[in-house]
Amino acid sequence: MTSPAVKNPQSPKRILSGVQPSGKLHLGNYFGAVKQHIAAQDEGECYYFIADYHALTTVHDAAVLRQNVLDVALDYFALGLDPQKTAFFRQSDVPEVCELSWILSTVAPMGLLEKAVSYKEKVEKGIDSSVGLFTYPVLMAADILAYRSHLVPVGKDQVQHLEITRDLAVKFNHRFGDTFPLPDYRLTPASKVPGTDGQKMSKSYGNTIDIFAEGKPLKKSVMGVVTDSRTVEEAKDPATCNVFALHGLFATPEQSEALAAKYRAGGMGYGAAKTELLGLIDEHFAQAREKRRELAKDLAQIEEWLRKGAEKARATAGATLDLVRSKCGLR
Ligand code: ADP
Ligand code: TRP
Repeated sequence: MTSPAVKNPQSPKRILSGVQPSGKLHLGNYFGAVKQHIAAQDEGECYYFIADYHALTTVHDAAVLRQNVLDVALDYFALGLDPQKTAFFRQSDVPEVCELSWILSTVAPMGLLEKAVSYKEKVEKGIDSSVGLFTYPVLMAADILAYRSHLVPVGKDQVQHLEITRDLAVKFNHRFGDTFPLPDYRLTPASKVPGTDGQKMSKSYGNTIDIFAEGKPLKKSVMGVVTDSRTVEEAKDPATCNVFALHGLFATPEQSEALAAKYRAGGMGYGAAKTELLGLIDEHFAQAREKRRELAKDLAQIEEWLRKGAEKARATAGATLDLVRSKCGLR
């Protein structure tokens, strides 16, 4: 998606995304978000953050939140986030976004937020219906606009939030004069990684395979992937099989085709396919697991990287806020 926008004078392209620290990251998060974030590091100036302000809408235990933030940071650094290239930081280390969120809320029509599906979906799932949950998209718009971002890689579920962000940027620009470029989003290719039960993999469905699971717990998750009840001898349909779909995320096209051929021929049980999948997962994450273990030994280093990331992010957001304040008469 591209858009005519207020010219963003910054060059190179600014790429931004956030991840909520609401639990252990799973394969859905990896293929739907993290992998793209890491891959985009050489494409422009990247700002990625751990959305701890947003997480307050669902995580209500300080120790759990702190642990989750640390886990996400370790996960990202272990998976290849390079702190020399990318500003990676805690959202709450840049309080300017809260100020911008307030300012944007004064241009946000109630009707626009009332149309947001994620609020309704979350309340239906049993999450407390706080004002913060309702205005969640405004804070997200502030996250994006504070860095005057050009590109936001996200999953399909976040597209409406990006549309709201663009609407708010247009409304602000219209009221106060051109300020924000309109950010484009980029959808991740793996839009729906299946969970162990075949539904979309999600923490809230308890059907996840965690990125950094290994050994027995990983084996238990993989062996628990639901299949139909065809016997070893029977031919199987790769197109409808969850094991095959997960296998395809890790396999080369040749490995995938070889497994499909075995499915169609019959004579291979789902247990064998799961064992193959397990092998691919182990291989794919072997290096990252090792790196995560090393990083976890020096948490001061992690804190230092987050601090450095926040410093850069704050300088950028601070400059935007200076401009915004002066545009709307706060100074
Ligand atoms: P969960 O559903 O487990 O709570 P989140 O909503 O925190 O996961 O997901 C964060 C991001 O990870 C989403 O915006 C989306 O990009 C990606 N994501 C999560 N689950 C999946 C999935 N099953 N398939 C593809 N992407 C996913
Ligand atoms: N709402 C996003 C999610 O749940 C996380 C997020 C917060 C985000 N602020 C953002 C993503 C800004 C992209 C840009 O996954």
